[in-house]
Amino acid sequence: MTTQAIHVQGLEKSYKELRVLRGVDFDVARGSIFALLGSNGAGKTTVVRILSTLLKSDAGTATVDGFDVATQPADVRESISLTGQFAAVDETLTGRENLVLMARLRRVKGPGQVADDLLARFQLTDAAGRRVSTYSGGMRRRLDIAMSLIGNPPVIFLDEPTTGLDPQARVEVWNSVKELAGQGTTVLLTTQYLDEAEHLADRIAILHQGRIIANGTLDQLRQLLPPAKVEYVEKQPTLEDVFLAIIGNDDTGADDPTTARTAKEQR
Ligand SMILES: Nc1ncnc2c1ncn2[C@@H]1O[C@H](COP(=O)(O)OP(=O)(O)OP(=O)(O)O)[C@@H](O)[C@H]1O
Ligand SMILES: [Mg+2]
Repeated sequence: MTTQAIHVQGLEKSYKELRVLRGVDFDVARGSIFALLGSNGAGKTTVVRILSTLLKSDAGTATVDGFDVATQPADVRESISLTGQFAAVDETLTGRENLVLMARLRRVKGPGQVADDLLARFQLTDAAGRRVSTYSGGMRRRLDIAMSLIGNPPVIFLDEPTTGLDPQARVEVWNSVKELAGQGTTVLLTTQYLDEAEHLADRIAILHQGRIIANGTLDQLRQLLPPAKVEYVEKQPTLEDVFLAIIGNDDTGADDPTTARTAKEQR
């Protein structure tokens, strides 16, 4: 049996005359975080849709958790969860109801307990009884990822998990993703944010003009550039450092208006 959680070889896909994937190859090791980088329209979502059996490729092979996406789609679906580019939670239900519903659909034992555990893990306990329509974008994203974890799939796909989130919510999502990989889940995520890949990924692949044009660890990718000139410069904090320092990156649930107000009053 292969040790790779995901194996992709020679993948091709066209939409009419638009050749989006022109021979994509990569492997993802079990328990690792793999980031697929690319500009808008590079084909990242197309790769994810093929790997999650939502779309058929024109050529090439792909296996997920040892199962062929073309010939064993049902087995692949049992092994994965997909968090799409656009949050797929039900707005009219509460956070907890969404989780319980998903747990029932996946026939998991003790849906209520599973929901409560995930709510706690994603810092959504206080908001559990509120309709999702009142959630912030970050809370929705966290709920979406929490839902995808029900049933503990060995491989998860996250298509642009932090697009549209503020820096603090992004860091929260990153922490959740790292925790997952720490527990042995394989994560393939797509992103347009270079810092996201830097922070999270064990390996980074760049999809460009239908092919993977670079694939390696961050250090390996850095070595693709000519050696850096050594200069002595004081390191200035990034805007993100400043933003996080000022708003206080302390996980006190800034999404919850009551907590946020109290925190402000205390200052
Ligand atoms: N169903 C479809 N029919 C026709 N063209 C499509 C279809 N789906 C995607 N495309 C085109 O294929 C290309 C790749 O799209 P894809 O969604 O995979 O890109 P992406 O890398 O995920 O982009 P983004 O960063 O904007 O999410 C784009 O040019 C897109 O317009
Ligand atoms: Mg996309």
